[in-house]
Amino acid sequence: MRPVDALLEIDAPRPEFEPGPAGTHITIRGLTKYFAGWPLYENFNLDIPKNKIVSIFGPNGCGKSTLINMIAGLIPIDSGEILFDGKSLKETRIGYVFQNYREALFPWLRTIDNIAYPLKLEGKSNLEINRRMEELVASFDVKFDLKRYPYELSGGQQQTASIMRALAPRPEVLFLDEPFSALDFEMTLFIREKLQEVFMQTGTTMMLVSHDLEEAVYLADQVLLLTKRPTRIAEILHYGDARPRTVETLSTPSFIDLKKKSLEIFQREVRR
Ligand SMILES: Nc1ncnc2c1ncn2[C@@H]1O[C@H](COP(=O)(O)OP(=O)(O)OP(=O)(O)O)[C@@H](O)[C@H]1O
Ligand SMILES: [Mg+2]
Repeated sequence: MRPVDALLEIDAPRPEFEPGPAGTHITIRGLTKYFAGWPLYENFNLDIPKNKIVSIFGPNGCGKSTLINMIAGLIPIDSGEILFDGKSLKETRIGYVFQNYREALFPWLRTIDNIAYPLKLEGKSNLEINRRMEELVASFDVKFDLKRYPYELSGGQQQTASIMRALAPRPEVLFLDEPFSALDFEMTLFIREKLQEVFMQTGTTMMLVSHDLEEAVYLADQVLLLTKRPTRIAEILHYGDARPRTVETLSTPSFIDLKKKSLEIFQREVRR
């Protein structure tokens, strides 16, 4: 690049970056993503609130996974800007829980070493790592042997370990892409409650993709409903029932009402 071009680039007017409302954690502006020449997101704007759980719900293939993967930096964006409290992704600590826990843990490491792995990468001392492991084990009330290898554990135990690993470095944001979809009902209930407990303890901002509407609403402060592609925000619904939410929550008028509203919007979008 000629020096004069570099200067021009610096001086070129940047599109106005409009900050989100007070309490915003993640600001997404002008996000554009094409796959094979077809737009998935075009000039997409979104504010994700801090210390809240946002559930993402929408038609199959509308781009739920792609959205959180772009925010988490796993998939490149074509254009746009994503900031975390005004910082770039590089300056932000994030955690990610994958749907497929079987491929998420390293099979050659014991479960405890899988969980400690991000802390090792950060160069933490053994003392610090052990302390954090003890905290995590206590907060997850782990009943299985973490010295075992992942393949020796049940699916639910492996996904519990995946969540513990994602939380080990105390992320500012936790991304979860259908974390319960490969689990049986009992394990889903158990991990859902654990996640809620962790959220109540830490207030970590979470973005949760779920294809189960009841679960999406149950855990959410906000339900982000997306349209079919090219994907826009169909609606953002707020859900304010107190935590901890319990089985009783499922039959409260506010829960039922929000679930109904979400379903109506979803159906409207699917039929469009
Ligand atoms: N690497 C890729 N190349 C081409 N198209 C892709 C690629 N990844 C995703 N897509 C397309 O982008 C769209 C969004 O995919 P994505 O997986 O984000 O959707 P989703 O909402 O998570 O779907 P699901 O409900 O099935 O989990 C889909 O139409 C998909 O086919
Ligand atoms: Mg998906």
